Amino acid sequence: NHHIKASLPLLGKKVLVTAGPTYEAIDPVRFIGNHSSGKMGFALAQQLYHLGAEITLITGPTVEKIDHVTRIDVISAAQMLNACTTHFAQSDIMVMSAAVADYTPVNVAEQKIKKTESEFNIALKKTTDILATLGQQKRENQILVGFALETNDEEHHAKEKLKKKNLDMIVLNSLNDKGAGFKTETNKITIFNKEFNSKSFNIKSKTDVAVDICNEILNLMIAKHL
Ligand code: CTP
Ligand code: CA
Repeated sequence: NHHIKASLPLLGKKVLVTAGPTYEAIDPVRFIGNHSSGKMGFALAQQLYHLGAEITLITGPTVEKIDHVTRIDVISAAQMLNACTTHFAQSDIMVMSAAVADYTPVNVAEQKIKKTESEFNIALKKTTDILATLGQQKRENQILVGFALETNDEEHHAKEKLKKKNLDMIVLNSLNDKGAGFKTETNKITIFNKEFNSKSFNIKSKTDVAVDICNEILNLMIAKHL
């Protein structure tokens, strides 16, 4: 009995995970998106489930499939924000691995835009930063985990985001190494905690990366007596 409980350290915990890209509509047939596959978020949801947690997975468009979770499919950044703010208060842990669009069209054309001019501009406006919004709402007994995707000054930018968004932990995704990041089966990560301690991991499968991230989350829970 003791053994079973120890192997399910997140039993009774509610975990919110986001995954995938968002699509920002331009007109009825076009959108602005990104190359996120959703694999990392789904691997995390899977692993957190194996640790005993009750999972709500909010995902943008993806072909990924998963069992044993409450799945909420969204398309746009605005829809993802809405779903996240609805479920955050009831969550013990929130892991924001979605690749949320930073900008969205100011207007969505009702009809398909025809090609007329030789140059064509789309006016964009900033989306709401979901993670920063949740960081402001966060209680003492909640753990908020973010991601950072950088190509330069990685460590500096990751630490800035950790601070600015009031996170407990940030997972830096290195795009520099071949075979890491979007559209791949592998990732190379460095994890920073609030004290700016960092832990670097070797390049490995997204499933194994999810295990590493979960172990860090468990360490954090112990440190915070949660
Ligand atoms: N994020 C979010 N809402 C947004 C944009 C980003 O919640 N509108 C989250 C991402 O899910 C990720 C973290 O913020 O967990 C960092 O995303 P990233 O794109 O690396 O950083 P940004 O803060 O968007 O800054 P920039 O893209 O300019 O580097
Ligand atoms: Ca961004």
